Amino acid sequence: MKSAPWWKEATIYQIYPRSFFDSNGDGEGDLPGVTSKLDYVKSLGVDAIWLSPFYTSPNKDGGYDVANPRDVDPRFGNLEDAKELIAQAHKRNLRVIADIVPNHFSDQHEWFQAALNSKRGSKERERFHFYDANEDGTPPNNWISLFGGPSWTQVADGQFYLHLFDSSQPDLNWDNPEVNEDFEKTLRFWIDLGVDGFRIDVAHGLVKEDVLKNHPDPQGLSNALRLDVAMDAEKRNALLLTVPYFDRQGVHEIYRKWRKLFDSYVGRDIMAVAEAWVHPPVNATRYVRADELHQVFNFDLLTAEFDSKVLFDVVERSISLNATVNALPTWALSNHDSPRVASRIGEEQARALALFVFGLPGSTYVFAGQELGLPDGQLQDSDRQDPTFFRTNGAIKGRDGARVPLPWSGETTPFGFSTAKPWLPISQSWKDLTIENELADPKSSLHLYRSALELRKEFLVGTGGITWLESSQHGHKNNSLLSYSRGSITVVMNLSDSAKEYEATGKLVIVSAGTVEAQDGKKVIPARSTAWFMA
Ligand code: NOJ
Repeated sequence: MKSAPWWKEATIYQIYPRSFFDSNGDGEGDLPGVTSKLDYVKSLGVDAIWLSPFYTSPNKDGGYDVANPRDVDPRFGNLEDAKELIAQAHKRNLRVIADIVPNHFSDQHEWFQAALNSKRGSKERERFHFYDANEDGTPPNNWISLFGGPSWTQVADGQFYLHLFDSSQPDLNWDNPEVNEDFEKTLRFWIDLGVDGFRIDVAHGLVKEDVLKNHPDPQGLSNALRLDVAMDAEKRNALLLTVPYFDRQGVHEIYRKWRKLFDSYVGRDIMAVAEAWVHPPVNATRYVRADELHQVFNFDLLTAEFDSKVLFDVVERSISLNATVNALPTWALSNHDSPRVASRIGEEQARALALFVFGLPGSTYVFAGQELGLPDGQLQDSDRQDPTFFRTNGAIKGRDGARVPLPWSGETTPFGFSTAKPWLPISQSWKDLTIENELADPKSSLHLYRSALELRKEFLVGTGGITWLESSQHGHKNNSLLSYSRGSITVVMNLSDSAKEYEATGKLVIVSAGTVEAQDGKKVIPARSTAWFMA
Protein backbone atom coordinates (compact mmCIF):
# COMPACT_ATOMS: atom_id res chain seq x y z
CA MET A 1 0.00 0.00 0.00
CA LYS A 2 1.24 3.49 -0.83
CA SER A 3 1.97 5.42 2.36
CA ALA A 4 0.22 8.75 2.94
CA PRO A 5 2.10 11.83 1.68
CA TRP A 6 4.14 13.65 4.33
CA TRP A 7 1.81 16.65 4.58
CA LYS A 8 -1.46 14.75 5.02
CA GLU A 9 -1.48 14.80 8.83
CA ALA A 10 1.66 16.82 9.42
CA THR A 11 2.22 19.19 12.32
CA ILE A 12 3.56 22.38 10.80
CA TYR A 13 5.41 24.97 12.86
CA GLN A 14 5.01 28.54 11.66
CA ILE A 15 8.12 30.66 12.02
CA TYR A 16 7.97 34.41 11.67
CA PRO A 17 11.68 34.81 10.86
CA ARG A 18 11.99 38.37 12.11
CA SER A 19 10.88 37.27 15.57
CA PHE A 20 12.49 33.87 15.92
CA PHE A 21 16.20 34.28 16.68
CA ASP A 22 18.66 37.04 15.85
CA SER A 23 22.03 35.58 14.83
CA ASN A 24 23.83 38.81 13.94
CA GLY A 25 22.90 41.21 16.72
CA ASP A 26 20.80 43.71 14.78
CA GLY A 27 17.63 43.26 16.83
CA GLU A 28 15.83 41.26 14.14
CA GLY A 29 15.59 37.52 13.61
CA ASP A 30 17.12 36.08 10.44
CA LEU A 31 17.54 32.86 8.44
CA PRO A 32 20.83 31.77 10.08
CA GLY A 33 19.01 32.35 13.37
CA VAL A 34 16.33 29.88 12.33
CA THR A 35 18.95 27.38 11.17
CA SER A 36 20.75 27.59 14.49
CA LYS A 37 17.56 26.65 16.34
CA LEU A 38 16.42 23.73 14.21
CA ASP A 39 17.28 21.22 16.91
CA TYR A 40 14.81 22.97 19.18
CA VAL A 41 12.19 22.91 16.43
CA LYS A 42 12.81 19.24 15.79
CA SER A 43 12.53 18.49 19.51
CA LEU A 44 8.94 19.75 19.45
CA GLY A 45 7.95 16.77 17.33
CA VAL A 46 6.79 18.79 14.32
CA ASP A 47 7.14 17.58 10.74
CA ALA A 48 7.67 20.82 8.86
CA ILE A 49 8.29 24.52 9.19
CA TRP A 50 6.43 27.26 7.35
CA LEU A 51 8.52 30.38 7.03
CA SER A 52 6.69 33.69 6.73
CA PRO A 53 8.23 35.81 3.91
CA PHE A 54 11.96 36.53 3.96
CA TYR A 55 12.21 37.95 0.41
CA THR A 56 13.58 41.33 -0.65
CA SER A 57 11.11 43.81 0.76
CA PRO A 58 10.88 47.33 2.15
CA ASN A 59 9.03 45.58 4.97
CA LYS A 60 6.02 47.85 5.10
CA ASP A 61 3.83 44.82 5.85
CA GLY A 62 6.17 42.41 7.61
CA GLY A 63 7.62 41.18 4.30
CA TYR A 64 4.22 40.49 2.70
CA ASP A 65 5.20 43.39 0.44
CA VAL A 66 7.61 41.59 -1.85
CA ALA A 67 10.01 43.56 -4.04
CA ASN A 68 11.84 40.54 -5.41
CA PRO A 69 10.24 37.15 -4.80
CA ARG A 70 13.33 35.27 -5.94
CA ASP A 71 15.85 36.72 -3.50
CA VAL A 72 16.38 37.04 0.25
CA ASP A 73 16.17 40.40 1.98
CA PRO A 74 19.54 41.39 3.49
CA ARG A 75 17.87 41.77 6.90
CA PHE A 76 17.33 37.99 6.83
CA GLY A 77 20.58 36.94 5.12
CA ASN A 78 21.07 35.79 1.54
CA LEU A 79 20.24 32.93 -0.81
CA GLU A 80 23.09 30.83 0.52
CA ASP A 81 21.55 31.15 3.99
CA ALA A 82 18.22 29.99 2.59
CA LYS A 83 19.88 26.96 0.98
CA GLU A 84 21.68 26.13 4.20
CA LEU A 85 18.45 26.41 6.21
CA ILE A 86 16.68 24.04 3.82
CA ALA A 87 19.61 21.59 3.85
CA GLN A 88 19.81 21.60 7.65
CA ALA A 89 16.05 21.16 7.98
CA HIS A 90 16.11 18.22 5.57
CA LYS A 91 18.98 16.68 7.48
CA ARG A 92 16.65 16.58 10.48
CA ASN A 93 13.78 15.27 8.39
CA LEU A 94 11.89 18.55 8.65
CA ARG A 95 10.13 19.80 5.50
CA VAL A 96 10.19 23.46 4.54
CA ILE A 97 7.19 25.47 3.37
CA ALA A 98 7.78 28.89 1.82
CA ASP A 99 5.20 31.67 1.84
CA ILE A 100 4.31 32.91 -1.63
CA VAL A 101 2.50 36.23 -2.07
CA PRO A 102 0.71 36.29 -5.44
CA ASN A 103 -2.02 38.86 -4.80
CA HIS A 104 0.30 41.85 -4.78
CA PHE A 105 3.86 43.04 -5.06
CA SER A 106 5.62 45.80 -3.18
CA ASP A 107 5.56 49.18 -4.86
CA GLN A 108 9.35 48.80 -4.91
CA HIS A 109 9.15 45.80 -7.26
CA GLU A 110 10.69 46.68 -10.64
CA TRP A 111 7.38 46.06 -12.40
CA PHE A 112 5.58 48.67 -10.34
CA GLN A 113 8.37 51.16 -10.72
CA ALA A 114 8.20 50.59 -14.49
CA ALA A 115 4.41 51.07 -14.37
CA LEU A 116 4.83 54.40 -12.60
CA ASN A 117 7.25 55.50 -15.28
CA SER A 118 4.98 54.41 -18.13
CA LYS A 119 1.87 55.89 -19.69
CA ARG A 120 -1.75 54.99 -18.97
CA GLY A 121 -2.74 51.98 -21.06
CA SER A 122 0.88 50.78 -21.34
CA LYS A 123 1.78 47.10 -20.99
CA GLU A 124 3.65 48.01 -17.78
CA ARG A 125 0.41 49.30 -16.22
CA GLU A 126 -1.51 46.27 -17.46
CA ARG A 127 0.26 44.11 -14.88
CA PHE A 128 -1.62 45.94 -12.11
CA HIS A 129 -5.11 47.45 -11.79
CA PHE A 130 -4.74 51.03 -13.02
CA TYR A 131 -7.92 53.01 -13.77
CA ASP A 132 -8.83 56.60 -14.45
CA ALA A 133 -10.49 58.67 -11.73
CA ASN A 134 -14.25 59.19 -11.81
CA GLU A 135 -15.41 62.39 -13.47
CA ASP A 136 -15.57 64.14 -10.09
CA GLY A 137 -11.97 63.12 -9.39
CA THR A 138 -12.86 60.37 -6.87
CA PRO A 139 -11.30 56.87 -7.00
CA PRO A 140 -12.84 54.28 -9.39
CA ASN A 141 -14.91 52.73 -6.57
CA ASN A 142 -15.53 53.00 -2.81
CA TRP A 143 -13.70 49.87 -1.64
CA ILE A 144 -11.83 50.16 1.64
CA SER A 145 -8.48 48.51 2.12
CA LEU A 146 -8.29 45.63 4.58
CA PHE A 147 -5.79 47.76 6.45
CA GLY A 148 -8.16 50.77 6.50
CA GLY A 149 -8.40 53.82 4.22
CA PRO A 150 -9.25 53.72 0.51
CA SER A 151 -8.15 50.76 -1.66
CA TRP A 152 -6.96 53.19 -4.30
CA THR A 153 -3.97 55.48 -4.53
CA GLN A 154 -3.54 58.13 -7.19
CA VAL A 155 -0.34 58.49 -9.23
CA ALA A 156 1.14 61.61 -10.81
CA ASP A 157 -0.85 61.47 -14.08
CA GLY A 158 -4.18 61.14 -12.23
CA GLN A 159 -4.80 57.38 -12.61
CA PHE A 160 -5.49 55.28 -9.53
CA TYR A 161 -4.14 51.80 -8.75
CA LEU A 162 -5.90 49.19 -6.64
CA HIS A 163 -4.43 47.85 -3.39
CA LEU A 164 -6.56 45.67 -1.14
CA PHE A 165 -3.90 46.06 1.56
CA ASP A 166 -1.39 48.88 2.09
CA SER A 167 -0.80 51.50 -0.61
CA SER A 168 2.69 50.01 -0.90
CA GLN A 169 1.13 46.67 -2.00
CA PRO A 170 -0.36 47.17 -5.50
CA ASP A 171 -2.62 44.27 -6.51
CA LEU A 172 -1.48 42.26 -9.51
CA ASN A 173 -3.68 41.79 -12.56
CA TRP A 174 -4.02 38.02 -13.00
CA ASP A 175 -5.80 38.45 -16.33
CA ASN A 176 -2.36 39.28 -17.66
CA PRO A 177 -0.49 36.08 -18.68
CA GLU A 178 2.82 37.68 -17.77
CA VAL A 179 1.79 37.58 -14.10
CA ASN A 180 1.10 33.87 -14.25
CA GLU A 181 4.40 33.21 -16.02
CA ASP A 182 6.32 35.18 -13.45
CA PHE A 183 4.77 33.27 -10.53
CA GLU A 184 5.44 29.93 -12.17
CA LYS A 185 9.05 31.02 -12.42
CA THR A 186 9.03 31.88 -8.70
CA LEU A 187 7.47 28.55 -7.71
CA ARG A 188 10.09 26.67 -9.74
CA PHE A 189 12.86 28.80 -8.31
CA TRP A 190 12.06 27.78 -4.73
CA ILE A 191 11.25 24.17 -5.55
CA ASP A 192 14.59 23.90 -7.34
CA LEU A 193 16.24 25.38 -4.26
CA GLY A 194 14.71 22.60 -2.19
CA VAL A 195 11.46 23.78 -0.59
CA ASP A 196 8.76 21.15 -0.09
CA GLY A 197 5.68 23.32 -0.30
CA PHE A 198 4.04 26.72 -0.27
CA ARG A 199 1.66 28.65 1.90
CA ILE A 200 -0.27 30.80 -0.57
CA ASP A 201 -1.00 34.26 0.80
CA VAL A 202 -4.46 35.69 0.01
CA ALA A 203 -5.03 32.66 -2.23
CA HIS A 204 -8.66 33.65 -2.74
CA GLY A 205 -7.89 37.18 -3.90
CA LEU A 206 -6.07 36.90 -7.19
CA VAL A 207 -9.04 37.36 -9.49
CA LYS A 208 -11.19 40.50 -9.17
CA GLU A 209 -14.65 41.14 -10.54
CA ASP A 210 -16.73 44.30 -10.73
CA VAL A 211 -13.72 46.48 -10.13
CA LEU A 212 -15.66 49.58 -11.10
CA LYS A 213 -18.73 48.97 -8.86
CA ASN A 214 -19.31 50.46 -5.42
CA HIS A 215 -20.04 48.24 -2.40
CA PRO A 216 -23.04 49.10 -0.16
CA ASP A 217 -21.03 48.88 3.10
CA PRO A 218 -17.33 49.06 2.29
CA GLN A 219 -16.20 49.79 5.87
CA GLY A 220 -18.25 46.95 7.33
CA LEU A 221 -16.85 44.63 4.72
CA SER A 222 -13.26 45.62 5.46
CA ASN A 223 -13.85 45.05 9.20
CA ALA A 224 -15.55 41.72 8.59
CA LEU A 225 -12.47 40.54 6.72
CA ARG A 226 -10.09 41.31 9.59
CA LEU A 227 -9.31 38.70 12.24
CA ASP A 228 -8.50 41.34 14.82
CA VAL A 229 -11.75 43.32 14.59
CA ALA A 230 -14.45 41.90 16.84
CA MET A 231 -17.87 41.63 15.20
CA ASP A 232 -21.08 39.78 15.79
CA ALA A 233 -20.79 36.47 13.91
CA GLU A 234 -24.09 36.84 12.06
CA LYS A 235 -23.24 40.31 10.87
CA ARG A 236 -19.77 39.16 9.82
CA ASN A 237 -21.15 36.19 7.90
CA ALA A 238 -23.71 38.30 6.10
CA LEU A 239 -21.04 40.78 5.00
CA LEU A 240 -18.66 38.03 3.96
CA LEU A 241 -21.20 36.84 1.40
CA THR A 242 -20.83 40.12 -0.45
CA VAL A 243 -17.08 40.38 -1.15
CA PRO A 244 -16.51 41.33 -4.81
CA TYR A 245 -12.77 40.77 -4.83
CA PHE A 246 -12.39 37.39 -3.14
CA ASP A 247 -13.16 33.80 -4.03
CA ARG A 248 -14.02 34.34 -7.70
CA GLN A 249 -14.21 31.24 -9.89
CA GLY A 250 -11.12 32.30 -11.84
CA VAL A 251 -8.75 31.58 -8.95
CA HIS A 252 -9.35 27.86 -9.36
CA GLU A 253 -7.98 27.89 -12.90
CA ILE A 254 -4.74 29.26 -11.51
CA TYR A 255 -4.43 26.53 -8.88
CA ARG A 256 -5.17 23.79 -11.40
CA LYS A 257 -2.17 25.01 -13.37
CA TRP A 258 -0.04 25.23 -10.25
CA ARG A 259 -1.01 21.72 -9.26
CA LYS A 260 0.27 20.42 -12.60
CA LEU A 261 3.51 22.27 -11.98
CA PHE A 262 3.87 20.76 -8.48
CA ASP A 263 3.06 17.27 -9.73
CA SER A 264 5.63 17.57 -12.49
CA TYR A 265 8.27 17.27 -9.75
CA VAL A 266 7.77 13.53 -9.56
CA GLY A 267 8.75 11.99 -6.23
CA ARG A 268 8.99 15.33 -4.45
CA ASP A 269 5.47 15.47 -2.96
CA ILE A 270 5.34 19.26 -3.27
CA MET A 271 2.32 20.60 -1.38
CA ALA A 272 0.49 23.91 -1.07
CA VAL A 273 -1.84 25.30 1.56
CA ALA A 274 -4.24 28.10 0.70
CA GLU A 275 -4.83 31.10 2.89
CA ALA A 276 -8.39 31.48 1.69
CA TRP A 277 -10.77 33.40 3.89
CA VAL A 278 -14.00 32.46 2.18
CA HIS A 279 -17.64 32.31 3.01
CA PRO A 280 -19.77 30.22 3.26
CA PRO A 281 -17.33 27.63 4.63
CA VAL A 282 -18.22 25.08 1.95
CA ASN A 283 -16.42 27.30 -0.58
CA ALA A 284 -13.10 26.52 1.08
CA THR A 285 -13.38 22.91 -0.05
CA ARG A 286 -13.11 23.99 -3.68
CA TYR A 287 -9.46 24.90 -3.09
CA VAL A 288 -8.68 21.32 -2.13
CA ARG A 289 -10.40 19.46 -4.93
CA ALA A 290 -8.25 16.63 -6.27
CA ASP A 291 -6.72 18.71 -9.07
CA GLU A 292 -6.13 21.87 -7.00
CA LEU A 293 -4.26 22.49 -3.75
CA HIS A 294 -3.51 20.10 -0.90
CA GLN A 295 -4.76 21.99 2.13
CA VAL A 296 -6.78 25.07 2.96
CA PHE A 297 -6.57 26.88 6.27
CA ASN A 298 -9.51 26.64 8.56
CA PHE A 299 -9.55 29.94 10.45
CA ASP A 300 -12.53 29.19 12.63
CA LEU A 301 -10.47 28.30 15.69
CA LEU A 302 -8.68 31.66 15.56
CA THR A 303 -11.90 33.36 16.57
CA ALA A 304 -14.08 30.62 18.11
CA GLU A 305 -15.27 31.09 21.68
CA PHE A 306 -14.26 28.48 24.26
CA ASP A 307 -17.70 26.96 24.21
CA SER A 308 -18.66 23.34 23.62
CA LYS A 309 -21.39 24.03 21.07
CA VAL A 310 -19.24 26.44 19.06
CA LEU A 311 -16.24 24.12 19.08
CA PHE A 312 -18.30 21.07 18.25
CA ASP A 313 -19.79 22.88 15.25
CA VAL A 314 -16.40 24.06 14.00
CA VAL A 315 -14.80 20.63 14.25
CA GLU A 316 -17.73 18.71 12.84
CA ARG A 317 -18.24 21.11 9.96
CA SER A 318 -14.60 21.19 9.01
CA ILE A 319 -14.23 17.44 9.00
CA SER A 320 -17.43 16.78 7.10
CA LEU A 321 -16.98 19.53 4.50
CA ASN A 322 -13.44 18.44 3.71
CA ALA A 323 -14.62 14.84 3.42
CA THR A 324 -16.86 15.83 0.50
CA VAL A 325 -13.72 16.44 -1.57
CA ASN A 326 -11.74 13.64 0.04
CA ALA A 327 -9.50 16.07 1.93
CA LEU A 328 -8.55 16.36 5.58
CA PRO A 329 -9.02 19.57 7.56
CA THR A 330 -6.34 21.87 9.00
CA TRP A 331 -6.33 23.33 12.51
CA ALA A 332 -4.71 26.56 13.74
CA LEU A 333 -5.16 28.29 17.09
CA SER A 334 -2.83 31.23 16.43
CA ASN A 335 -0.91 32.89 13.65
CA HIS A 336 0.90 36.16 12.96
CA ASP A 337 -2.35 37.93 12.02
CA SER A 338 -4.52 37.20 15.02
CA PRO A 339 -4.38 37.59 18.79
CA ARG A 340 -2.46 34.78 20.46
CA VAL A 341 -4.74 32.02 21.72
CA ALA A 342 -3.55 32.27 25.35
CA SER A 343 -4.59 35.94 25.44
CA ARG A 344 -7.79 35.38 23.53
CA ILE A 345 -9.34 32.54 25.53
CA GLY A 346 -7.06 32.18 28.58
CA GLU A 347 -3.91 30.26 29.37
CA GLU A 348 -5.45 27.03 30.64
CA GLN A 349 -8.13 27.07 27.99
CA ALA A 350 -5.44 27.44 25.32
CA ARG A 351 -3.64 24.34 26.59
CA ALA A 352 -6.89 22.40 26.77
CA LEU A 353 -7.88 23.41 23.25
CA ALA A 354 -4.44 22.51 21.85
CA LEU A 355 -4.63 19.04 23.36
CA PHE A 356 -8.17 18.64 22.05
CA VAL A 357 -7.13 19.65 18.54
CA PHE A 358 -3.95 17.55 18.43
CA GLY A 359 -6.08 14.42 18.50
CA LEU A 360 -8.09 15.37 15.43
CA PRO A 361 -7.53 14.09 11.90
CA GLY A 362 -5.77 16.42 9.48
CA SER A 363 -2.86 18.77 9.70
CA THR A 364 -2.19 21.03 12.64
CA TYR A 365 -0.37 24.35 12.52
CA VAL A 366 1.48 25.73 15.55
CA PHE A 367 2.61 29.36 15.55
CA ALA A 368 6.07 29.74 17.11
CA GLY A 369 5.65 30.77 20.74
CA GLN A 370 2.26 29.07 21.03
CA GLU A 371 4.02 26.03 22.50
CA LEU A 372 5.24 28.29 25.32
CA GLY A 373 1.77 29.62 26.02
CA LEU A 374 2.93 33.14 25.13
CA PRO A 375 0.34 35.87 25.46
CA ASP A 376 0.18 38.88 23.12
CA GLY A 377 2.95 41.36 23.73
CA GLN A 378 1.85 44.53 25.52
CA LEU A 379 3.05 47.35 23.30
CA GLN A 380 3.09 51.11 23.40
CA ASP A 381 1.70 52.85 20.36
CA SER A 382 5.20 54.14 19.68
CA ASP A 383 6.39 50.52 19.24
CA ARG A 384 3.82 49.59 16.64
CA GLN A 385 4.78 48.79 13.07
CA ASP A 386 1.69 47.21 11.52
CA PRO A 387 0.39 49.31 8.60
CA THR A 388 -3.14 48.82 9.95
CA PHE A 389 -2.28 50.96 12.94
CA PHE A 390 -1.12 53.83 10.74
CA ARG A 391 -3.83 53.53 8.10
CA THR A 392 -6.57 53.71 10.74
CA ASN A 393 -4.86 56.53 12.65
CA GLY A 394 -4.42 54.21 15.60
CA ALA A 395 -8.08 53.19 15.82
CA ILE A 396 -7.11 49.56 15.14
CA LYS A 397 -4.01 48.53 17.06
CA GLY A 398 -2.97 45.89 14.54
CA ARG A 399 -1.15 42.60 14.74
CA ASP A 400 2.19 43.45 16.34
CA GLY A 401 1.18 41.92 19.68
CA ALA A 402 1.34 38.42 18.16
CA ARG A 403 4.70 39.14 16.52
CA VAL A 404 6.83 39.98 19.55
CA PRO A 405 10.12 37.99 19.41
CA LEU A 406 10.50 34.70 21.27
CA PRO A 407 12.05 34.65 24.75
CA TRP A 408 14.82 32.06 24.67
CA SER A 409 16.78 32.21 27.91
CA GLY A 410 18.09 34.22 30.85
CA GLU A 411 16.49 36.42 33.46
CA THR A 412 16.17 39.72 31.67
CA THR A 413 14.60 40.94 28.47
CA PRO A 414 15.32 40.38 25.57
CA PHE A 415 15.89 36.87 26.93
CA GLY A 416 18.61 35.77 24.55
CA PHE A 417 16.63 36.64 21.42
CA SER A 418 19.22 39.23 20.43
CA THR A 419 22.22 41.06 21.79
CA ALA A 420 20.66 44.31 20.57
CA LYS A 421 17.35 46.05 21.24
CA PRO A 422 14.71 43.81 19.62
CA TRP A 423 12.52 45.27 16.87
CA LEU A 424 9.54 44.91 19.22
CA PRO A 425 10.07 44.98 22.98
CA ILE A 426 9.78 41.74 24.96
CA SER A 427 8.14 42.32 28.30
CA GLN A 428 10.11 41.47 31.44
CA SER A 429 6.95 39.70 32.62
CA TRP A 430 7.80 36.89 30.16
CA LYS A 431 10.65 35.77 32.44
CA ASP A 432 8.99 32.46 33.35
CA LEU A 433 7.98 31.78 29.77
CA THR A 434 11.45 31.44 28.26
CA ILE A 435 12.28 28.25 26.40
CA GLU A 436 15.04 27.64 28.91
CA ASN A 437 12.65 27.86 31.85
CA GLU A 438 9.94 25.80 30.25
CA LEU A 439 12.39 23.08 29.31
CA ALA A 440 13.28 22.82 32.98
CA ASP A 441 9.66 22.65 34.14
CA PRO A 442 7.91 19.34 33.43
CA LYS A 443 4.51 21.03 33.90
CA SER A 444 5.16 23.73 31.30
CA SER A 445 3.16 24.31 28.17
CA LEU A 446 6.26 23.39 26.16
CA HIS A 447 6.39 19.92 27.71
CA LEU A 448 2.68 19.47 27.12
CA TYR A 449 3.15 20.26 23.40
CA ARG A 450 6.14 17.96 23.06
CA SER A 451 4.45 15.03 24.78
CA ALA A 452 1.17 15.54 22.95
CA LEU A 453 2.80 15.75 19.53
CA GLU A 454 4.77 12.61 20.22
CA LEU A 455 1.64 10.72 21.30
CA ARG A 456 -0.25 12.09 18.32
CA LYS A 457 2.37 10.77 15.92
CA GLU A 458 2.60 7.41 17.61
CA PHE A 459 -1.05 6.63 18.22
CA LEU A 460 -3.25 8.88 16.11
CA VAL A 461 -1.84 9.90 12.74
CA GLY A 462 -3.31 7.69 10.05
CA THR A 463 -6.01 6.19 12.27
CA GLY A 464 -8.93 7.72 10.37
CA GLY A 465 -11.94 9.66 11.62
CA ILE A 466 -13.31 10.44 15.05
CA THR A 467 -16.40 9.17 16.84
CA TRP A 468 -18.10 11.77 19.00
CA LEU A 469 -18.84 10.55 22.49
CA GLU A 470 -20.04 13.69 24.19
CA SER A 471 -21.26 16.93 22.63
CA SER A 472 -24.42 18.94 22.26
CA GLN A 473 -25.39 16.47 19.53
CA HIS A 474 -24.00 13.22 20.91
CA GLY A 475 -24.62 11.99 24.39
CA HIS A 476 -25.41 15.60 25.52
CA LYS A 477 -25.22 14.62 29.16
CA ASN A 478 -23.22 17.61 30.03
CA ASN A 479 -22.80 20.69 27.89
CA SER A 480 -19.45 21.59 29.41
CA LEU A 481 -17.76 18.46 28.09
CA LEU A 482 -16.66 17.56 24.59
CA SER A 483 -15.32 14.12 23.89
CA TYR A 484 -14.40 11.92 20.95
CA SER A 485 -12.54 8.72 20.36
CA ARG A 486 -10.07 8.02 17.61
CA GLY A 487 -7.98 4.90 17.21
CA SER A 488 -7.10 3.72 20.70
CA ILE A 489 -7.43 7.18 22.28
CA THR A 490 -10.38 8.88 23.96
CA VAL A 491 -10.08 12.66 24.20
CA VAL A 492 -12.15 14.53 26.81
CA MET A 493 -12.20 18.30 27.22
CA ASN A 494 -13.83 19.93 30.22
CA LEU A 495 -14.64 23.52 29.26
CA SER A 496 -16.20 24.53 32.55
CA ASP A 497 -14.73 26.21 35.61
CA SER A 498 -15.30 23.20 37.84
CA ALA A 499 -14.12 19.59 37.72
CA LYS A 500 -16.51 17.19 35.94
CA GLU A 501 -17.02 13.46 36.17
CA TYR A 502 -16.75 11.42 33.00
CA GLU A 503 -17.09 7.72 32.31
CA ALA A 504 -13.89 7.20 30.41
CA THR A 505 -12.27 3.83 30.14
CA GLY A 506 -8.59 3.25 29.65
CA LYS A 507 -5.45 4.62 31.09
CA LEU A 508 -4.70 8.32 31.35
CA VAL A 509 -1.84 9.25 29.01
CA ILE A 510 -1.79 13.03 29.15
CA VAL A 511 -3.71 15.92 30.72
CA SER A 512 -3.37 19.61 29.85
CA ALA A 513 -3.70 20.94 33.42
CA GLY A 514 -4.45 19.57 36.88
CA THR A 515 -4.77 15.95 37.93
CA VAL A 516 -7.35 13.42 36.83
CA GLU A 517 -8.83 11.58 39.81
CA ALA A 518 -10.77 8.33 39.67
CA GLN A 519 -14.06 8.34 41.59
CA ASP A 520 -16.88 5.77 41.68
CA GLY A 521 -15.58 4.14 38.51
CA LYS A 522 -15.58 7.50 36.77
CA LYS A 523 -12.79 9.92 35.96
CA VAL A 524 -12.84 13.46 37.29
CA ILE A 525 -11.57 15.84 34.62
CA PRO A 526 -10.16 19.06 36.06
CA ALA A 527 -11.66 22.44 35.15
CA ARG A 528 -10.55 23.92 31.80
CA SER A 529 -8.57 20.85 30.95
CA THR A 530 -8.29 18.08 28.35
CA ALA A 531 -7.28 14.51 29.06
CA TRP A 532 -6.41 11.60 26.75
CA PHE A 533 -7.13 8.01 27.77
CA MET A 534 -5.76 5.00 25.99
CA ALA A 535 -7.73 1.78 25.62
C1 NOJ B 1 -2.16 37.67 4.87
C2 NOJ B 1 -0.90 37.69 5.65
O1 NOJ B 1 -0.93 36.62 6.57
C3 NOJ B 1 -0.82 39.03 6.32
O2 NOJ B 1 0.17 39.11 7.29
C4 NOJ B 1 -0.65 40.07 5.25
O3 NOJ B 1 -0.67 41.35 5.83
C5 NOJ B 1 -1.76 39.98 4.21
N1 NOJ B 1 -2.04 38.63 3.83
C6 NOJ B 1 -1.37 40.73 2.97
O4 NOJ B 1 -0.33 40.06 2.31
